[in-house]
Amino acid sequence: MLKTHTCGQLTATDIGATVTLAGWVHRRRDHGGLVFVDLRDRWGLTQVVFNPEQSIEAHQIARELRNEYVIQVTGKVGRRPAGTENARLPTGDIEVLTDALVIHNASLTPPFYINEEVEVDEALRLKYRYLDLRRAHMQETIILRHRTVKYIRDFLDAEGFLEIETPILIKSSPEGARDYLVPSRLYPGKFYALPQSPQQLKQLLMVAGYEKYFQIARCFRDEDQRADRQPEFTQLDLEMSWVEQEDILDLTERLLTGLVKAVRPGMEMLTPFPRLTYRESMLKYGTDKPDLRFGMEIADVSELVRDSEFEVFRSVLREGGVVRGFAAAGCAGYSRRQLDELQDLSRSYGAKGVVVVALGTAEQAGGPLESLEMAAVRGPSARFFTIEQVRAISVEMDGHPGDLLLLVAGPRAVVEGALAQLRADMGRRLYLAKPNMLAMGFVVDFPLLEWNADENRWEPSHHMFTAPQPSDLPLLETAPGHVRAQNYDLVCNGYELGSGSIRIHSRELQERVLSLLGYSPEHQVAGFGHLLEAFEYGAPPHGGIAPGIDRLVMLLAEATNIREVIAFPKNQSAVDVMTDSPSLVADQQIRDLHLAVRQPERGHG
Ligand code: AMO
Repeated sequence: MLKTHTCGQLTATDIGATVTLAGWVHRRRDHGGLVFVDLRDRWGLTQVVFNPEQSIEAHQIARELRNEYVIQVTGKVGRRPAGTENARLPTGDIEVLTDALVIHNASLTPPFYINEEVEVDEALRLKYRYLDLRRAHMQETIILRHRTVKYIRDFLDAEGFLEIETPILIKSSPEGARDYLVPSRLYPGKFYALPQSPQQLKQLLMVAGYEKYFQIARCFRDEDQRADRQPEFTQLDLEMSWVEQEDILDLTERLLTGLVKAVRPGMEMLTPFPRLTYRESMLKYGTDKPDLRFGMEIADVSELVRDSEFEVFRSVLREGGVVRGFAAAGCAGYSRRQLDELQDLSRSYGAKGVVVVALGTAEQAGGPLESLEMAAVRGPSARFFTIEQVRAISVEMDGHPGDLLLLVAGPRAVVEGALAQLRADMGRRLYLAKPNMLAMGFVVDFPLLEWNADENRWEPSHHMFTAPQPSDLPLLETAPGHVRAQNYDLVCNGYELGSGSIRIHSRELQERVLSLLGYSPEHQVAGFGHLLEAFEYGAPPHGGIAPGIDRLVMLLAEATNIREVIAFPKNQSAVDVMTDSPSLVADQQIRDLHLAVRQPERGHG
């Protein structure tokens, strides 16, 4: 080794020892006589002192050092002079008095500070990711990610799981997103696909008898990028045989509560994880990925306003729509400008607007609802309601004097969408969501199928391998929209963190579901013949789940973007700006693959 110790290791017990350290110049202070360098590696910082009385030569070279130079020093560990200790550093009591210095590499001036936590433009950070990764915050995140995956592996190993790799070159399969395709050189016109997830392979492993499987699996999806999406990402993919839904949820909950305790002991959780049905979640939160860190639940008040004088609500209800809303605590005193902002937001979320009703003034907070008089109820549409209606709506929404009621009317899906976002906005404005809380929960009982009105066909709400709930099986052909699935989402702080299901394990049922989804018998065999056939060779009942590792680490790191927790991510446009990928390739490579590119500018070959 080019060093005897790390830069985070030496303490007062090492005083007197001769050591060699190597690392980066974190900071250099030249005090004329003495030169001080904070030497950095991934373990920490150690103060290194160059004194001309000890080595003229080392001192001479030290004066040329700049930030991020890569150096190696040899010297004696000494106690720092009294009053110059640094209690914030584990190495803060000592310094290394240098005899010899070697510069292994110089460094250009980095495009941003590495030794300070300053805001840096993300494009620049991604272009120079290897420098960005040197920064303390990124290092902590990468270490957190390592610890997370290590915990998962150890936990599942102890539970009897086997980690099994599955191929990256697989058969293209219509599982939701667009596939990344890999052209075959040996078979002109044929393609492999990169896995969107190892879904079918893990099911085949169950048929093969590996009843507890997991994999830290790379997945690839060619879809629009968002803050919580990357074209390639990592799942904790797991599958078990002989299980029911409850077994998977129990395992997931034990794994995650243990994980958080181990890697982020300061973070709060809700235990046991709350369970909501899909319908409850859509009603109370307007979304199937609710932020459970705070209440402020949505209530349906359609029946309470059906007979009101308010024609806007009545006409929506006549047309089959709904009126829903929630109470924002203590917001009765919102200004004109704040209320206008809420209007604009609600419109940007697709609603026609939001009806606001202030229950008295902010000063009336704490008083009983019964004492609220109509004269104190304010809002442009308040006069259309009786005090009894206002009180009844308030009771439904858990609203109290001093609160602001926000009501949205329209088709159910529009109301859900707009209220979900308004609730999230109000939650942020009111600081209701604790940043150090991970409110994990399960959403269950999703519908098996969703109607795609644009394409006039049923789509699986999870994926086509998900088993229907046995009690709903008779409805499969007669009322497909009413069939509930044996599937579940793991949600956390407003994100979908994972999904899973109990799977179909009989050929007959799998064919029925594929037929409903519009697959002809020929297409079923062409696309899924391997799985259908495998089900005829003794497939055990099985099910699993796949939490996203990137999203999990993002939440553990209290970040809001998964690029923050991936060493080398793509940017929002799916481009790796560091290596400039995707890129053109040589003409010959394209010819080898029997492809022709329909654009004038080609590769460099
Ligand atoms: P699903 O498609 O719901 O299920 O994905 C499971 C989890 O993977 C993560 N995830 C992503 N993370 C980052 N970027 C993306 N583009 C991305 N897409 C998905 C999310 C998500 O909850 N095979 C099934 C699982 C199963 O049924 O066992 C599947 O892949 O955290």
